[in-house]
Amino acid sequence: MQTPISGFSKLSKKEKIAWIVKTHFHNTTEAKNIVEQYWNEEDQLQQLHDDFIENTISNYYLPLGVAPNFNINGELYTIPMAIEESSVVAAAAKAAKYWGDRGGFKTEVLGEEKIGQIHFIYKGDANKLEHFIAKIKDQLREDVSEITTNMEKRGGGIRSIELRNKTTLIENYFQLHLCFLTVDSMGANFINSCLETIAKRLQQYIQEESIFTEEEKEVEIVMSILSNYVPNCIAKASVSCPIEALEQEEGFSKQAFAEKFVRAVNIAQKEPFRAVTHNKGIMNGVDAVVIATGNDFRAVEAGVHAYAARNGQYTSLSNAYIAEDSLHFELELPLAIGTVGGLTNLHPLVKWSLELLGHPSAKDLMQIITVAGLAQNFAAVRSLVTSGIQKGHMKMHLLNILNQLNATPAQKEVAVTFFKTNSVSHSAVANFLEKNNA
Ligand code: MEV
Repeated sequence: MQTPISGFSKLSKKEKIAWIVKTHFHNTTEAKNIVEQYWNEEDQLQQLHDDFIENTISNYYLPLGVAPNFNINGELYTIPMAIEESSVVAAAAKAAKYWGDRGGFKTEVLGEEKIGQIHFIYKGDANKLEHFIAKIKDQLREDVSEITTNMEKRGGGIRSIELRNKTTLIENYFQLHLCFLTVDSMGANFINSCLETIAKRLQQYIQEESIFTEEEKEVEIVMSILSNYVPNCIAKASVSCPIEALEQEEGFSKQAFAEKFVRAVNIAQKEPFRAVTHNKGIMNGVDAVVIATGNDFRAVEAGVHAYAARNGQYTSLSNAYIAEDSLHFELELPLAIGTVGGLTNLHPLVKWSLELLGHPSAKDLMQIITVAGLAQNFAAVRSLVTSGIQKGHMKMHLLNILNQLNATPAQKEVAVTFFKTNSVSHSAVANFLEKNNA
């Protein structure tokens, strides 16, 4: 049985690997080599990566692809996407071309507000607390001016501070609910720093205030943290075109395709099992851009799915309808992302991706990400209601299967040609390789 190790983080990288390989991989050189082959010792790059997290032993690569030809509000973008799933970038590029030929994507930002909360326990008169908070609000803002001054210069800062009585949920539970604008930064550190300072001051001011009884003075700060649920930080993207202008799908009239497409989205609006998968398709596009641009995809995922359930039932994030003989397709997403701070100034590929996008503001990037989600959703639902998803998916997956089966470059070349007109499956590829084992 393995025994616990103490002081692991103090070991050198080589020592860490040696310990792991010894205790988990029977000391095989193969295990060591697999980890070490991803090192980038030549220059500063490795040091940079080592410093991102604790106990770095190697780098975990994802492919970075690009999807060109995205017409967004009349401007052309090439969108960077970091993702491992075979068909996502191809689908995005296809959807970009499709809608580029039909007027492009229209986008807008409906709000930029982020939220932070101080959760605390106060055992006493709620009215007294409410009046007191109203009285000290300006002082609390003043107390964090060192943190907020620069943000205010850029147009951000604390928008509002509100006391929320949550005692119907939990006895004596109150919140200070704060709204922030963080301009081009995601703002997590800014928000959390403001909250922690304000929380301390809140506690102190209540303790010093003679109107409170001794019991009331014993305020317990439970925690101070931003919320990743940002229902007022929303970007919207949409496409539309006359049904007559849609591409001719095999075996469908254009009208029939448009109706089936709308029906498929409607099913995702009504049926949670389908909604989750439908939204997963959206997040294929969203996460890929969020990761490529160095943003926190866990925060985005958490916020987006909460938004999808905001009315009490988990539902589709996108909406489709036919009006005046045109197909309309739209998506609204809550996105707390940034284009300055965090990894954006550190990770060379993130910097590169942001440059590729023309150094977008956070508002621009919110719109680009929403477009990537809408494009991905269009591509998936279009395939689902016409040819089925596997045809395109397996075509893109072909190279993975060939690699798994250790195909040579020559075999890959003939296989790719052969499977242009034949259906791809693991066994079909294995059979093909057996017959073409040159
Ligand atoms: C696969 O990664 C995504 C899809 O399942 C999305 C969908 O079903 O809409 C194809």
